[in-house]
This record gives sequence, C-alpha cells and structure tokens, in this order.
Amino acid sequence: MKLTDLRGILHYIPQFREKTFILAVDGVIVTDESFANILLDVAVLRSLNIRVVLVHGAAEQIRQLAEKESIQASNLDGTGVTDAPTLQLAINAANRLTHEILQGLSANDLRAASTNAIVAHPLGIIHGVDRLFTGKVERVDTELLQTLLNLGVVPVVSPLGFDGEGKTYRANSDDVALAVAEALKATKLIFITDQEGLRYKDDVIRHMLVDDLRKLVQSADGGFSTTEMFSKASHAVAAFAAGVQRVHIIHGRDDEGLLAEVFSNEGIGTLIYANEYEQIRPARKKDIRAIKRLTKKAVEADELVRRTRAEIEKNLADYYIFEIDRNPVACVALQVYAGEQKGELASLYVDTSHENQGIGRKLIQFVENKARETGLAELIALSTQTFSYFQTKGGFEEGTPDDLPPERREKYDQSGRNSKVLVKRLKR
Ligand SMILES: CC(C)(COP(=O)(O)OP(=O)(O)OC[C@H]1O[C@@H](n2cnc3c(N)ncnc32)[C@H](O)[C@@H]1OP(=O)(O)O)[C@@H](O)C(=O)NCCC(=O)NCCS
Repeated sequence: MKLTDLRGILHYIPQFREKTFILAVDGVIVTDESFANILLDVAVLRSLNIRVVLVHGAAEQIRQLAEKESIQASNLDGTGVTDAPTLQLAINAANRLTHEILQGLSANDLRAASTNAIVAHPLGIIHGVDRLFTGKVERVDTELLQTLLNLGVVPVVSPLGFDGEGKTYRANSDDVALAVAEALKATKLIFITDQEGLRYKDDVIRHMLVDDLRKLVQSADGGFSTTEMFSKASHAVAAFAAGVQRVHIIHGRDDEGLLAEVFSNEGIGTLIYANEYEQIRPARKKDIRAIKRLTKKAVEADELVRRTRAEIEKNLADYYIFEIDRNPVACVALQVYAGEQKGELASLYVDTSHENQGIGRKLIQFVENKARETGLAELIALSTQTFSYFQTKGGFEEGTPDDLPPERREKYDQSGRNSKVLVKRLKR
C-alpha cells in the first residue's frame, strides 16, 4: 500500500470505527516470520478503534510436536477423533501459540488476554465412532469477550474449549472463529492462511457473492483444492447466515496483506460479500480520482482516450460507477450527442481484479437502459482493442465513421486513433 493510498482509506474509517473484526489465523502462520507484520497491521486496526479478536489454529504445531515426540496424532484439525495423547499435544501446541501471540502483541504495545471464553462439550459418537476429546463449541462467553474489547484489550482465543466440569476439548479453529464472529456480531471475519485465497479448480476466487459460494459448497464436487479450503468456504457461508457482513481469506505472508485487503479496492485475497453491496450509481465529484485511477492502464494501452480531470469533471453527470463494498471497481459513461437521438457508450473500464465476472456486460446493459429511458434510438461505442467484446458480448454491430454525427465525426478524424465504430440500434 502506497502512502498516497492513505487518502483512499479515509472513507473506511467511520465505517469501521468500533466495529469488530475476527482474525482467524492458521497455526502455520503464527510461527512464520511474517506474523510480526500481521501484528503490526493489528496495531493499525486498533489505532483506528477497530475491535480485534484473534482466534488461532494449531494443526501444524500439533503435527510437528507429534513428530518430535514420536506420537501418532489421532487428528490434527479438531474435526476427527482426539485421543488423550493428541489432546495433550493440542494443549501444549495451542498454549505455546497463544503465548507467541501475546508476546508479539506486547511488542506492539497492545494489551491482550487469553481466555476460557469457548464453552465446549464432547462432539460425541458420530457414525458409531466416539470422537473422545474433540469438542463442539456450545457457546461463547460473549460478556467476557465484550468486557475485554470495551477495555481496549485484544482477546486471543485458542482452539480449546472448556466445560463446566473443568475438562478441556480440542475444537476446530474455523468453528471457534465462526462462533466468536456470531457471538460478537462481527463485521468481518478474516481467515489468514498459507494460501493466496480461496482456491477452486485451479483458480483463486477473488470476489464472490455468498450465494454463488454457497452453490459451490453445496455442490460438494471436490473443486476446492484442500479440505482446509473447503472448511474456509463452508464457514464463510455459515458466517453470512450468522450475520457477518464480509469474509476475507488472505495469505498471511503477504506484506501488509491484511491492511491491503481491508482498505483497498484491490484486495490481495478472496472477498466474499453479500448482494446488496454491489451497485451501479451516478459518479460524484469525489469519484474523479477513482475514475482516473481505474482507467489509467487502459489509457496507457491506448484502449481508452485520455481525459483530463477537468474534462471528467465537466461531464461528470455522464459517468456511472460500479461499486462493490463501496469500492469503485468499474466505470462507464453515456454521452448523448447534442440534438441527436444517438449516444456514445464511453470510458467502459473494469478493474483487472474484477474482470470476467459479468460487470462489463452489466454496465453495457445499464447504459442501454439509460439510453432507452432518454429516448435514444442508437448507441455507439468506439473501440481500438475491445470491438469484438462489444460485438460478441454486447450485441453491437460494426458500423462506419459515417454513423457518427458531424461534430463527433470531426473529433474522430482529428484524434487519428482510427477506432472501430460499433453501433447498437435500440428497439423500443
Ligand atoms: C473489456 C472489458 C470492459 C470487459 O469487462 P469484464 O467485466 O471483464 O467483461 P464480462 O465479464 O462482461 O465478459 C467477459 C467475457 O468477455 C471476454 N472479453 C474480455 N475482453 C475481451 C476483448 N477485448 N475482446 C473480446 N472478448 C473479450 C472474456 O473473454 C469473457 O468471455 P467469456 O464470458 O466467454 O468467458 C474489460 O476487460 C476492460 O475494462 N478492458 C479495458 C478497457 C477497454 O478496452 N474498454 C472498452 C473501450 S470503451
């Protein structure tokens, strides 16, 4: 994140102040040298009055400890059978990790506390198999965590649950994170993993509506690369049902990854969001920077005409922004030719991190509807490199410069860009 992006994060600050973020960190990341950066990012979040709870896993450390002590661990992630020796490994591994987190938070002058806020019961016998010391999260001591958060303390929650009899159970850390997120009515649940995002069939999902993710999870087609990824995906879906507004899955080793994901348009991992956060709206004056930033690469590649800030400002009423999660990710303009029943679809640009999700088509459709409402009979697009997109996906046909009204034709000839002229007749 560049220093200049600080301006960009300003609009998030009122949105996130006093909100609760649950950071669910895989054990493998806690002991990685990059974890210090994550804790620095936590310090930034705290300085913005964001309430942070750190939930951590321990699977990797249980595996390492088991190897070191030549013990066969009965299960690593708290979903299978946890026998007595494995529970002991889990307690040792989890306590060690909690300690490292507390130590790291101290190094950042952050107050933190380990808790017994997870109340658990035995998972029991499933399909005839006793899961022994594997626990099911029964409830979260919300009051305890809220009290700590109110005091500005960062609660650190391990994947261990406690019952009223003083027994300890090994719980799955994704389950714990979900239960904590639900109990605290968290705004965001952020999984910090050793993967660059949610991987499905060789692709990393960058942005996805929770409804679409639910379909992938329910299809159970084995498309998620690992059981860990499937777990993140299914817990993400459950988190929305529990009222969480956003779920992120990021790589813990990306420098400043956490801040970039929370505060930028170009998150580095996967963002799962709910429908209502996607909208097309008229551009406002404060969007001019975003329009310039969005279209910069296309202008450099000669895909779009260079427009100055003043030009955009003058014609701002023509511009529309497509935003996800209040982030402008695409733009388009409709310029009506004066005195004509024709208009031009211009400045269509979809941010590369959001390509191929149908946004371009939605914007074309939107402009078409606007054009119809305005009483236009014809929509024109000029394109140097995207003409086949307009033809195959937008239903435009190839026209000629003669389709342009005289004034526009003159500008077209002067520009020397030799763009193809595409025409769509609007039936009413
Ligand atoms: C072209 C652009 C608007 C497409 O936006 P998008 O949201 O990614 O597009 P959609 O999701 O609606 O459509 C994706 C489909 O279009 C195809 N496509 C993308 N760019 C294309 C191009 N230049 N030529 C032909 N097809 C293209 C994709 O392969 C994909 O095909 P599929 O659905 O068969 O798999 C976007 O890539 C962009 O902003 N490009 C740079 C700027 C530009 O050229 N703007 C147009 C000038 S006004």
